Amino acid sequence: MPTPVRKAVLPVAGFGTRVLPATKAIPKELLPVFDRPAIQYVVDEAREAGIEHIVFVTGRGKQAIEDYFDHAFELEASLKAKGKDQILADVEGSRLPAGGASFTRQQTPSGLGHAVWCARDIVGHEPFAVLLPDVIVKGEPGCLKQMLAAYDDVGGNIIAVEQVPEDQTHKYGIIAPESRDGALIKMKGMVEKPAQGTAPSNLSITGRYVLQPEIFELLAEQGAGAGGEIQLTDSMATLMGQQSFYAYEYQGQSYDCGDKIGYLRAVAAHAVAHADLGDKARETLLDVLG
Ligand code: G1P
Repeated sequence: MPTPVRKAVLPVAGFGTRVLPATKAIPKELLPVFDRPAIQYVVDEAREAGIEHIVFVTGRGKQAIEDYFDHAFELEASLKAKGKDQILADVEGSRLPAGGASFTRQQTPSGLGHAVWCARDIVGHEPFAVLLPDVIVKGEPGCLKQMLAAYDDVGGNIIAVEQVPEDQTHKYGIIAPESRDGALIKMKGMVEKPAQGTAPSNLSITGRYVLQPEIFELLAEQGAGAGGEIQLTDSMATLMGQQSFYAYEYQGQSYDCGDKIGYLRAVAAHAVAHADLGDKARETLLDVLG
């Protein structure tokens, strides 16, 4: 059995530029996707996969995220006293266990690779997951759980991928596949945000990663790449030459909450899928559309 993956890194320092002004005073990760903050879905995906400790790589103005995952003592006591048991259960379920989260600051907006590198001391020398909270993935089981099942078999490094339209490849990290065994894909390369018409495939990196700690040494030396930022994809491309590295085409649907239309789509999809309010939400959306 490969070494278990116990920790997950969530980079949450970004400004949310593409959803301003909504994110001027609220971290974009706390924007509600129907009845809970976007980041709750991502944390729940990590916990469903067995992750024990979440490392948030955060920045100025993001303190509300730490409060959100804390024990809201006065609120919970008040709900309990009033007998509001269902709401209390929802609030309790949103919390992370004591000691189950760490917060470290990125300090400069230097890219995803730099954000992940900032978690190096807290992760230490063990494999870890990375989940990008802009992307909510609906899947049963969740995307990370599917990846960790594959990891139990093959170990090493695994990144989730999905097919995107050809004219969208310039927005993502894109892999160059070599061969395939079921959902697992051997790669011969990967490139961050290839120029239009130059992508090696239409398989994009979804924002879910299982990585070995050697990535930190590569990130420490990594120069700026696409967009002038330190790119995780560039260090992964190097690590691929040194260790087992697979792409994994997961089963499910991703929602990119990083821009306004993607966010709208995420809200609608999660509203109609809600256990209690889904039917009513669907009716309401159809009614609004006339
Ligand atoms: C990041 C990654 C990219 C990945 C994407 C998924 O890009 O660098 O490889 O495909 O997330 O959403 P970003 O969207 O932060 O520019």
